[in-house]
Amino acid sequence: MQPLAQLDREAWRFINSVSVITVCVDGVVNAMSAEWCAPVSLKPPLIGVFVGEERFTRPLIERAATFGVSLLAEDQAWIGRACGRYSGRAVNKIEAFRIPIEPAHYIEAPLIAGAAAQFECRVVDRRAYGSHLLVVGEPLRAVGNPAKRAIAYSRGRFYALGTEIPVDESVLEAQLLEGERR
Ligand SMILES: Cc1cc2nc3c(=O)[nH]c(=O)nc-3n(C[C@H](O)[C@H](O)[C@H](O)COP(=O)(O)O)c2cc1C
Repeated sequence: MQPLAQLDREAWRFINSVSVITVCVDGVVNAMSAEWCAPVSLKPPLIGVFVGEERFTRPLIERAATFGVSLLAEDQAWIGRACGRYSGRAVNKIEAFRIPIEPAHYIEAPLIAGAAAQFECRVVDRRAYGSHLLVVGEPLRAVGNPAKRAIAYSRGRFYALGTEIPVDESVLEAQLLEGERR
């Protein structure tokens, strides 16, 4: 069996949250949108982000000892677009788009103010997988804003979370009991 040379775009139906990764290296500050940013461990808490090789962020995060993760809220999709369409190579996104930032407590890079959650991470590992570099960070500080709801991103569009789908646990339990009896 051959690995796929290219993925069918129709198969690409992943739904992710939207984070803004902030870095500060030698006084250069940059913010990049990342949908491929997720927890990788609970004990200890670890967060991983995949950074493409063409990103301005890439050489910065290759050298950074720390980075920020701000999980965008419903009123912040425009920040996800601004930090995900434009490169820090060409423009200072934070200044040009007046991205609301606030200083972090333990890291040099700022955080996105008003985000649904913020994490200040210390880099504990880096590993390249094809085009993307996985950078794993240990949060030194993590805060959630209960007044804000995180957003979703899929196939180039931003979404607010929709209706909860109820799952009837009792049906599963009944099936389990029935299976045990068989
Ligand atoms: C919502 C959204 C999510 C994105 N997720 C990622 C991601 O997880 N990893 C990545 O390398 N690029 C991702 N991108 C693309 C980068 O954010 C984009 O190329 C950006 O311009 C890079 O900025 P930089 O050159 O300043 O680093 C995403 C773009 C958008 C709009």
